[in-house]
Amino acid sequence: MNLDINGRIAVVCASSQGLGRACALELARAGCVVVVNGRDATALEQTAQEIRAETNAKVIAVAGDVATAEGQLALLAAVSHVDILVTNNGGPPFRDFREVDRTAMLAGVVANMVAPIELIQRVIDGMVSRRFGRIVNITSGSVKMPLAGLDLSSGARAGLTGFLAGVARSVAHANVTINFLLPGSFDTRRLRSSMEVAAIRTGTALEAVRASKQTAIPAKRFGEPSEFGAACAFLCSGHAGYITGQSLLIDGGAFPGVL
Ligand SMILES: NC(=O)c1ccc[n+]([C@@H]2O[C@H](COP(=O)([O-])OP(=O)(O)OC[C@H]3O[C@@H](n4cnc5c(N)ncnc54)[C@H](OP(=O)(O)O)[C@@H]3O)[C@@H](O)[C@H]2O)c1
Repeated sequence: MNLDINGRIAVVCASSQGLGRACALELARAGCVVVVNGRDATALEQTAQEIRAETNAKVIAVAGDVATAEGQLALLAAVSHVDILVTNNGGPPFRDFREVDRTAMLAGVVANMVAPIELIQRVIDGMVSRRFGRIVNITSGSVKMPLAGLDLSSGARAGLTGFLAGVARSVAHANVTINFLLPGSFDTRRLRSSMEVAAIRTGTALEAVRASKQTAIPAKRFGEPSEFGAACAFLCSGHAGYITGQSLLIDGGAFPGVL
């Protein structure tokens, strides 16, 4: 399918690997100019080169912490304007909620709620004036289905979803959409490190943790980042202007609800 976004400018936060990288790659395939981002400049440049080599797209690497004002300004300074914004960041570590002190709580809320809102504040008026904008926020399946130990992640991301619900309706008239992608279990560094923690905590072999997690998913496997990237690219496409304020759960059927 031609996604009708050839030549659009996309900023994909936290995209040197994992789900963000998959979104950046798919947008580059669709012909976008893509800004990729991560804190490790070496890993980021390698990703940028890989995406350039695979797609021939213009890929701009901007190293920095997306939760900081400097990081955000550097991302936006790399391009003339932003047509597509994919917000993403690392998630808070697994921790019993009793151990999440005020400092950790505020950091988690800044990382997974405040930072995406700040970025959106910076780009949205330009999108409205140009009558095109696509914003996709990578949140988590934990917004719909709680995961013990990821309570801070669930709370901050649910806060982001609630905050932007009204914002999405306020810009829909201008062909600017705001949606949410909720990953279940995707085979990335984040998932692997969480399984390592679980293996150590429970004294179980890593392979057994992996197998039991996969068995619990109706699809009987983890998601491929490319599947996530394809959904992101569609929500950013010219065809998706009538989809806004929606949370799309991509979890192989793990969430047991009807709606
Ligand atoms: N994978 C899953 O199954 C899953 C499920 C639910 C939710 N999620 C959420 O989805 C998001 C992406 O997860 P993932 O699995 O793709 O993680 P990942 O494989 O660990 O990749 C995270 C990416 O974000 C970058 N990053 C982290 N902190 C950053 C910061 N402060 N500023 C800029 N870049 C930063 C990392 O690069 P640097 O380290 O170099 O900065 C890396 O490129 C996370 O918020 C995660 O909690 C993932």
